[in-house]
Amino acid sequence: MKAFNLLCMVAAMSGAPAWSHRPPVELTVWDRGGNESSSLLYGIMFEVTNQTGDGGIHGQLLRNNGFQGDEPGLLAYAPIGDVDIDQDSDNPVSDAITSSLRLSVLEGETAFVGFANQGYNGVPVMNETYTSEFWMKGDYDGNITLQLVGSTSGEVYANHNLTVHSTADKFTQWETTFNSTASPDGENEWRLLVDGYKVAGRSMNFGLVQLFPPTFHSRKNGLRDDVAKVVEDLRPSFLRFPGGNNIEGLEVNNRWKWNETIGPVVDRPGRQSPWHVPNTDALGLDEYMYWCEDMGMEPFLILWNGKSYDEILSGPDLDPYIEDALNELEYLTGPPDSIYGKLRVQNGREEPWKLTYVGIGNEDDYTGGCETNPERFTRFYNILREKYPDLVLISSTMKPECLPEELPKPLILDQHYYRKPDELVGMFDYWDNQPRDQPVIVGEFGARNFTDPDGVFWTFMQMACSEAAHMIGIERNSDIIKMAAYAPLLQHYGFTQWSPTMIGLDSSPGSLTLSTSYYVQQMFSTNRGSTILPVNTTSPFGPLYWGASKNDESYIVKLANYGDEEQTIAINVPETTSGRLHKLEGPKETANLPHDVQILPQKQEVDNPDGIYEVKMAAWGVAVLVVS
Ligand SMILES: *[C@@H]1O[C@H](CO)[C@@H](O)[C@H](O)[C@H]1NC(C)=O
Ligand SMILES: *[C@@H]1O[C@H](CO)[C@@H](O)[C@H](O)[C@H]1NC(C)=O
Ligand SMILES: *[C@@H]1O[C@H](CO)[C@@H](O)[C@H](O)[C@H]1NC(C)=O
Ligand SMILES: *[C@@H]1O[C@H](CO)[C@@H](O)[C@H](O)[C@H]1NC(C)=O
Ligand SMILES: *[C@@H]1O[C@H](CO)[C@@H](O)[C@H](O)[C@H]1NC(C)=O
Ligand SMILES: *[C@@H]1O[C@H](CO)[C@@H](O)[C@H](O)[C@H]1NC(C)=O
Ligand SMILES: *[C@@H]1O[C@H](CO)[C@@H](O)[C@H](O)[C@H]1NC(C)=O
Ligand SMILES: *[C@@H]1O[C@H](CO)[C@@H](O)[C@H](O)[C@H]1NC(C)=O
Ligand SMILES: *[C@@H]1O[C@H](CO)[C@@H](O)[C@H](O)[C@H]1NC(C)=O
Repeated sequence: MKAFNLLCMVAAMSGAPAWSHRPPVELTVWDRGGNESSSLLYGIMFEVTNQTGDGGIHGQLLRNNGFQGDEPGLLAYAPIGDVDIDQDSDNPVSDAITSSLRLSVLEGETAFVGFANQGYNGVPVMNETYTSEFWMKGDYDGNITLQLVGSTSGEVYANHNLTVHSTADKFTQWETTFNSTASPDGENEWRLLVDGYKVAGRSMNFGLVQLFPPTFHSRKNGLRDDVAKVVEDLRPSFLRFPGGNNIEGLEVNNRWKWNETIGPVVDRPGRQSPWHVPNTDALGLDEYMYWCEDMGMEPFLILWNGKSYDEILSGPDLDPYIEDALNELEYLTGPPDSIYGKLRVQNGREEPWKLTYVGIGNEDDYTGGCETNPERFTRFYNILREKYPDLVLISSTMKPECLPEELPKPLILDQHYYRKPDELVGMFDYWDNQPRDQPVIVGEFGARNFTDPDGVFWTFMQMACSEAAHMIGIERNSDIIKMAAYAPLLQHYGFTQWSPTMIGLDSSPGSLTLSTSYYVQQMFSTNRGSTILPVNTTSPFGPLYWGASKNDESYIVKLANYGDEEQTIAINVPETTSGRLHKLEGPKETANLPHDVQILPQKQEVDNPDGIYEVKMAAWGVAVLVVS
């Protein structure tokens, strides 16, 4: 795109006060003439990496509750009282949950004894209502005590009895609800205690223990309400899921299997993920779809397409997996009387899910996928196009050498990139010369410090600012860029495998932290234009970047000052008089840290009958002007 010369502005601004030692950058926004902007432009990408699903956005707080993954043993469990606990695979809870916890009580016991689960580095204990569930097997009639307790302090925050009637011949499920007071820290555990007198000299089995705080939209097996709400505040238009690398698996047999993530959680086996931690899959296919529905997002579902990290299937070997993908789509969208549609209804969802965006695999240009992708992609594309002509189909790579020579149409291509801040800004015009008849998606992007990729966990102003500058470049091309998502969305501090993150948390109160990048995403996503507008100016791009758009109500000007000096900008938006200016400003290397959030967006009213707005931007600042 071009920067027009602007002459008339100089005269208009001649009486301007000396607010800066340099003349202001002058921008004049057109009232028409630009390209249409994708209405879905900003959304989110989510995959379960270490503990971003379990221990992250999913509500269930207890860890290792199904003994899933590679030999977890008694991870997160501890005995309470003079008892023995061990993992018992002779007493599986179900075909899927193949072990339970055996609690053995000594002869002569009289106290309440049992076991604790310490969650994901502790259990967050708030002044809230909790729901807890467990399965048990063994003769027992009487009270079971559930508690939330400080692991070292011994402070009891919740203490609740429920009466059970359990028998030795099978597992039965129990559920209860109780209130808790708040713990000052995250060092807490959930405890289950039995009347030792009743169990003295024998053992009982417990399985699939669960604890939920309030969930988003009060869904059963839902998302953590506090975490989901800050995600919702981004007003995302789509959710790309379930990966990412997590859908691929290290081997074919460890791929994300949609049909093992549905139905009652007790029937979900879970799996070892490519991120070297188990997934319980309690956050499963239907939970993702409810997440989309509850936040008004378009689901962007990725299908497994034959590529795992260390194993790739193509040719006839792929046949059953193509069939499996079609079954998945029937499960989601088929009528209630279809084979898989019926299964969906059984699982509690009568109405077919709305699904339009479907991605074929993940990053097929990496880890050996390229060579076989033209064939794999074409087979998936052709059958999906034939059976589901209304789906918008997305290729996981845009590298020509990994795609068929002639691309089928319609098709969207997905590209991912993480870059040093300077490089991301350098990609401001990256999409300007993309052919206008080939839509694309930026399914993952973000600034990253490659000097020490695991070192700088929180994005600081320079990084956030580079993202803003780059996103202005994306917006200017949002006639062809249909969707863009910053990644990763979320991490739990004790279990990180990537830096930085947009949102972070651990088990302690007030730990949920929104990064500088979060606020940039939010400012851009909550102020969107439907048409991109040309801007006249006297100045070239850099270190200041800008872009303008309008929707039915307002004109929107987005600005990023990727530089060490403050900037004054005179923005002329003809025929407007007032509105708001949103700003995010802070020192170059300052980050929002847990319990030390220094950088928050500021909002001020602006007013000018001439439609000329004087915006002062600090070094390393981001601003969004919304006027009408
Ligand atoms: C932008 O500049 C061009 C060329 O000088 C001029 O024709 C056009 O009217 C200007 N647009 C606005 C909105 O000022
Ligand atoms: C629409 O986008 C194309 C490609 O960037 C650009 O050449 C063209 O000028 C844009 N149209 C308008 C009216 O801004
Ligand atoms: C706990 O929550 C209840 C209900 O929301 C509220 O009335 C009460 O004041 C809270 N207690 C504390 C100590 O915050
Ligand atoms: C079980 O607990 C409830 C609530 O604390 C109590 O009222 C009841 O007496 C207990 N039952 C027995 C059998 O101890
Ligand atoms: C639970 O019940 C037991 C007896 O079964 C009783 O000793 C204990 O005090 C009760 N605890 C609570 C919190 O009511
Ligand atoms: C929890 O506390 C609320 C009031 O804050 C009360 O309405 C509710 O009944 C309590 N729930 C339980 C299970 O005790
Ligand atoms: C899931 O589907 C695969 C075939 O794609 C099948 O082998 C497997 O048994 C199914 N799992 C369940 C739990 O139905
Ligand atoms: C997180 O994932 C990384 C990368 O896969 C792995 O090396 C690491 O062991 C995991 N860390 C924790 C604490 O789970
Ligand atoms: C990148 O990380 C290294 C190591 O932690 C640090 O010294 C450096 O300042 C960081 N650079 C940027 C641009 O953040």
